[in-house]
Amino acid sequence: MDKLVIEGGRPLNGEVAISGAKNAALPILFSALLTDGPCVYHNIPYLRDILSTIELLETLGARCTFEGRTVTIDAGGMCCHEAPYDLVRKMRASILVLGPLMARLKQARVSLPGGCAIGARPINLHLRGLERMGARIELSHGYVETSVDKLRGNAIYFDVVTVTGTENLMMAATLAEGTTILRNAAREPEIIALADVLRRMGARISGDGSEEITIEGVDRLTPVETTIIPDRIEAGTFVAAAALTGGDVTVTHCDTRHLGAILHKIRLTGAVLDILPDQVRVRSEGRITSVDIKTQPYPGFPTDMQAQFMALMTVGRGLSMVSETIFENRFIHVSELQRMGADITVSGDTALVKGVPHLSAAPVMASDLRASASLVMAGLVARGQTVVNRVYHLDRGYEAMEEKFKRLGAAIWREKG
Ligand code: EPZ
Repeated sequence: MDKLVIEGGRPLNGEVAISGAKNAALPILFSALLTDGPCVYHNIPYLRDILSTIELLETLGARCTFEGRTVTIDAGGMCCHEAPYDLVRKMRASILVLGPLMARLKQARVSLPGGCAIGARPINLHLRGLERMGARIELSHGYVETSVDKLRGNAIYFDVVTVTGTENLMMAATLAEGTTILRNAAREPEIIALADVLRRMGARISGDGSEEITIEGVDRLTPVETTIIPDRIEAGTFVAAAALTGGDVTVTHCDTRHLGAILHKIRLTGAVLDILPDQVRVRSEGRITSVDIKTQPYPGFPTDMQAQFMALMTVGRGLSMVSETIFENRFIHVSELQRMGADITVSGDTALVKGVPHLSAAPVMASDLRASASLVMAGLVARGQTVVNRVYHLDRGYEAMEEKFKRLGAAIWREKG
């Protein structure tokens, strides 16, 4: 298993370009199953999760290519409706095949994704929504088996805001008979990005970006060529890292409209931000003011930035209260940060971070994608040499992170394991 080695203490300076958004690319790639011709997707990040998605699509009979940052998918020859355990367990977002398979083939057999490090990650709301659209659902031997004569539009209310639940049912509804209304829907930019692509394929969708989305079913969708939006979490991660290490970094190729809550909180820590529509310049002396955060569905502070912001708070002046309201177990990075000298007390869904003068380098273990990013950030400022083990977690969602940090002046390298 690869590891990242980091010599801490260097400020970051220069420019870093943000890659395409993983959490926009995944549902959009699966939406290719909704049509029977070649779809072309540009600005796809080179990530393990993208490779897993392509592997799953090919298992279903789609023909895929990945050249440079462009993926082409032709689901014309789609022949199979089963997403097997050994693929789904590698990437929970594989559950996003459910909606397209039900819309196109009227049946699906998908391994239950199971939980992961940050929580149980149930899919009950995905399944209840399909039932509301007339699907028959059976759970057996670790799989969800579902079938329908024809999906029918209906009103669906999500008890909890769910991003992939909204995406799955939006895709299913595009080819249903009649109109579907999704209430208490997720409002993330990735939802709007998916709706834009589906509209360009011929779907009739309105209200995306609000808590109520209306989808009028159509008979068929046609192939599309599109470009993936920038990754707001990668952008937020680099802005936070620059605020932490001190220096002068310009984060380019991002969409700052998606970064409102993140940039607001980072500005409160004392970093100076110059914000343009597609870039943000971060200047920092590395002296951090402690700030509270509470994760919320978009447009609130994103849970996917909680671990990274906590890393920033470990060397803040004062006390920071970090509340995680989305996932029940998303403080796994705390114990590793504590091993680097951080002063953090967890009580339920809240972590109290008391800033310390400095962190000290240590060997640490990555546990999930965003926790990995927080440990790399901590290593950038810790005194000495930090080794982050199991960086395959990082490779799922960050494209060449060590190369990007190295170009900004960090002393960081990968040791193949
Ligand atoms: C998406 O996961 C993202 N993944 C996650 O990013 C992100 O953390 C999460 O949304 C929240 O923003 C992708 O988009 C591929 P949810 P998702 O359904 O859709 C509960 C990353 O680091 N829930 O919005 O799986 C659930 O337990 C990843 O890039 C149900 O109870 O998350 C959680 O408490 C990590 N029943 C809450 O809703 C359901 O049927 C939000 O989960 C579905 C969800």
